[in-house]
Amino acid sequence: MTLPSKVRLYEVGPRDGLQNEKQIVPTAIKLELISLLTDTGLSKIEATSFVSPKWVPQMGDNREIMAGLAPVLGVDYPVLTPNLKGFEAAVSAGAKEVAIFGAASESFSQKNINCSIAESLERFMPIMAQAKAHNILVRGYISCVVGCPYEGKISPLAVAKIAKKMFEMGCYEISLGDTTGVATPKDIDTLLDVVMDYVQVAHLALHCHDTYGQALANILAGLHRGISVIDSSVAGLGGCPYAVGASGNVATEDVLYMLNGMGIETGVDLNKMIKAAWYISDFLGRRPSSKVALALHNK
Ligand code: HMG
Ligand code: MG
Repeated sequence: MTLPSKVRLYEVGPRDGLQNEKQIVPTAIKLELISLLTDTGLSKIEATSFVSPKWVPQMGDNREIMAGLAPVLGVDYPVLTPNLKGFEAAVSAGAKEVAIFGAASESFSQKNINCSIAESLERFMPIMAQAKAHNILVRGYISCVVGCPYEGKISPLAVAKIAKKMFEMGCYEISLGDTTGVATPKDIDTLLDVVMDYVQVAHLALHCHDTYGQALANILAGLHRGISVIDSSVAGLGGCPYAVGASGNVATEDVLYMLNGMGIETGVDLNKMIKAAWYISDFLGRRPSSKVALALHNK
């Protein structure tokens, strides 16, 4: 397979990145981060989630975030919605794109959204129906596509079957999440080998966490299989409150540097991304967990 000539970066920093921060980041800081990210040329920036504030208090300002977003032509601000209640709240707050999120591991599904995989798929059905009625785009996430912190190895076939169900429900894209970053490139290759028989690669994205330092290598393996949508998080922020040990997502700057070097177009400005990375890292009082943001700082 030849490498794609273009990749769409799907930025998850303001959501996946900040949902796991110990301190609750003020709304104004989140909005400034989103504004800096918008300036970079990204077309998809996941802004927040409409989940229970008891479960994830870090996303409790979801309405204020939506109210503070100025519409920008060509930029979508998707939000996570676990159930119809979240979906309705998201739409009334102005969301035009949402993401449902399930898992390929029963235990992770229970810990993360308090229901079984089958129940979660049932829960998504009314969201899909309402989304269709309101012309809202829906993305689907599957967590633990290679390994689960509670169950260990996950079968690629289990992932493939859920991906197919989500796609048939109406999701325009399925993001395959290596939630705890345990995958190595061979796992990604094996996974895609199976999943691509169920959902075309044009509708698949890779969502790699970098817990074991494998994310860039895994993304490269995905690119070689034809993946052209990559989820990443500015400054490598992130984790998942229901996956102990999950560190940040792969840093957007690092992915961007790799893609730029390989001549793969993204439409995203690396220097502006580094500025956004330092902005949020300075606020959090630490250095970005991105090699590129450190190497190119102040250059
Ligand atoms: P539950 O407790 O089973 O929900 O939680 P329930 O339906 O029994 O309702 C209990 C209470 O929650 C009620 O309020 C509901 O109104 C309220 P009460 O009567 O007690 O006052 N409630 C809500 N409030 C606000 N928004 C809602 C909502 N739904 C119910 N949408 C639920 C079930 C799904 C809500 C909960 O488990 C939850 O919020 N989970 C979200 C966890 C989460 O956000 N995890 C991180 C995101 S996933 C991720 O990071 C992985 C990903 O990045 C990919 C990867 O890396 O693998 C996407
Ligand atoms: Mg994630």
